Amino acid sequence: MKKVIVLGGGGFIGGHLAKRLKENGNYVRICDIKNHEYFDHREICNEFILGDLTDPKTVELVIAEGWDEVYQLAADMGGAGYIFTGQNDANVMQNSALINLNVAKEATVKNIKKLFYSSSACIYPENNQLDPNNPNCEESSAYPANPDSEYGWEKLFSERLFKAYKRNYNLNVRIARFHNIFGPQGTWKGGKEKAPAAMLRKAAETPDGGSFEVWGDGQQTRSFLYVEECVTAVLSLMESEFEGPVNIGSEEKVTINQLAQMAIDISGKDITIKNIYGQEFIDKYGFKCPLGVRGRNSDNALFKKELGWEVSAPLIEGMTKTYEWISEVISQHQLVEA
Ligand code: NAD
Ligand code: GDD
Repeated sequence: MKKVIVLGGGGFIGGHLAKRLKENGNYVRICDIKNHEYFDHREICNEFILGDLTDPKTVELVIAEGWDEVYQLAADMGGAGYIFTGQNDANVMQNSALINLNVAKEATVKNIKKLFYSSSACIYPENNQLDPNNPNCEESSAYPANPDSEYGWEKLFSERLFKAYKRNYNLNVRIARFHNIFGPQGTWKGGKEKAPAAMLRKAAETPDGGSFEVWGDGQQTRSFLYVEECVTAVLSLMESEFEGPVNIGSEEKVTINQLAQMAIDISGKDITIKNIYGQEFIDKYGFKCPLGVRGRNSDNALFKKELGWEVSAPLIEGMTKTYEWISEVISQHQLVEA
């Protein structure tokens, strides 16, 4: 039995990862600034410490001497509506950088055997993601750096921070760059939700014959990876000798309108997409439409070469499961409100 710590285990990916680690027979400690909204803590860990990881004293308490593994997923993050409006840039950089600085130091001081760091596809240069049909997200293309968000710059800084701790203090690190992970028990409303949850929520809430908004012209591209596949990939990276950084994502690229249409088809309703952007968006919401890069797709060649991992299921499968979960949560909310 390994003793492992999941930082950010009160969140979406961290919760699923902690659950799998516990199911696999490990002793799991979580620290998060909030409780998990959708998992019972007993399902996902042995200990849940409610604490703020920007405070070095909390990190000293949470990271115990000689434990086997730390999974660092805690971050101030969200989808396009959170990280691309510009309104949260200072907090995102301050909070996430502080967490990572504290964790890198404490994991070294406490002789942690292995540390996982969750970076992002948002580190890739904007100039390589202008063509929606042919974005370049090969790991080696990260430099010269030109991320399109402060969130991406902080992730790049923290990748470098963990690699510096590896070089100077021999901290055994594994780094993955996640490409838009989705699934049940994730943020689906409130402004931090990403496109898959947003589309599924809108499809579930819109009446038959109605329409819902999709930001942008809908021709921007992305790929989306189901959370269980992400967890499997993280664990195989941790078990390997390969340090990364390596992409963890899907190569099934879709336009955002295709994603929205998929959500509509799953709902079985007759719903029309209304694309909103430019001045119309500003007039309605008071800020520029948060779009992010024009095109993005995971490039899994390196992961395949080093670890042999491949995505096992098509996007539609994960979207269908997530729709069932979101519909269920919405109906529970309606029951509480009634
Ligand atoms: P999430 O927001 O659900 O999880 C992050 C968790 O960190 C939250 O539970 C939050 O409360 C916690 N946290 C934030 N500040 C904290 C603090 N000061 N102290 C303690 N806990 C704090 O996000 P997620 O989707 O589960 O993402 C997990 C990690 O993966 C993050 O580092 C994120 O940047 C990275 N990532 C996610 C995606 C994605 O598509 N979900 C893509 C790229 C990278
Ligand atoms: N969130 C959201 N909500 N996005 C929408 C919506 C909506 O209602 N309608 C259209 N979009 C568009 C966004 O404008 C963007 O162009 C695209 O859908 C994808 O948005 P997100 O899923 O929110 O974010 P992202 O793919 O640009 O970035 C996400 O993935 C990164 C990793 O690949 C974020 O979660 C980042 O934090 C993450 O690092």
